[in-house]
Amino acid sequence: MEHPAPAVTGEPQVVVVDDAAAAGRIVAATISDTVRRAPTCRLGLATGSTPLPAYRLLVAELRGTGAFARVQAFLLDEYVGLAATDPASYRATIRRELTDELGVPPASVHAPDPGSGRHADLDAACADYERLLGDGVDLQLLGIGRNGHLGFNEPGTPFDTTTHVVTLSDTTRADNARFFPTPEAVPTHAVTQGLGTIRRARHLLLAATGAAKADAVAAALEGPLDVSCPASALRLHPRVTVVLDRAAAGALS
Ligand code: F6R
Repeated sequence: MEHPAPAVTGEPQVVVVDDAAAAGRIVAATISDTVRRAPTCRLGLATGSTPLPAYRLLVAELRGTGAFARVQAFLLDEYVGLAATDPASYRATIRRELTDELGVPPASVHAPDPGSGRHADLDAACADYERLLGDGVDLQLLGIGRNGHLGFNEPGTPFDTTTHVVTLSDTTRADNARFFPTPEAVPTHAVTQGLGTIRRARHLLLAATGAAKADAVAAALEGPLDVSCPASALRLHPRVTVVLDRAAAGALS
């Protein structure tokens, strides 16, 4: 399939700080500013390790204030085959780490729901989530995979994709094995917002920390605008903030 080279619309704003804790402070401040300005905003959340310092700060500072009570939260992705109650599911993870602590009602925390009820049909789960996301969230927090993935959009994913089912790469399954009892327990499939879905957000906030992310960050920001690095699609978006610690910025020119 041919994909014409899309136009680059904006330069990401890149902020480099000393360490992961400092990156967490900027991410937390960006999220809380967004919510303070628009208390009923639609917030796109990521799971994984990178956002945890920011989530812990938000919880420490805002628990019990009701600041997030009217936010609608949207997850980037979810594994196929895990119930929402499975502690390793992204729905359970985000509630445990952030939204329950901040008093976001569970009904306001949205995620792909692959595998149960009507969503035993995975295509229906994808279509319903895409519809729910509508014209996109106000702020989307993103991490980046060592292979340049965004959400679970692995290398080779076209930049205009909507919510879809993915087969997880061996790298991604190995990287995520730390959240499961055994490496074999990591699901083989997931449902993820597509790169086109992610790009509908008004503001994209990518955070990356640690030397293991340095090559992916350099490919995303300075490499070819190409599906071999899904995160290079960020450069098609007019409003992107990239928060890096020194180690993750280490391969930038
Ligand atoms: C998480 C997600 C993934 C992670 C990425 C980085 O919802 O969609 O793209 O953001 O794999 O993961 P960590 O932060 O654990 O290095």
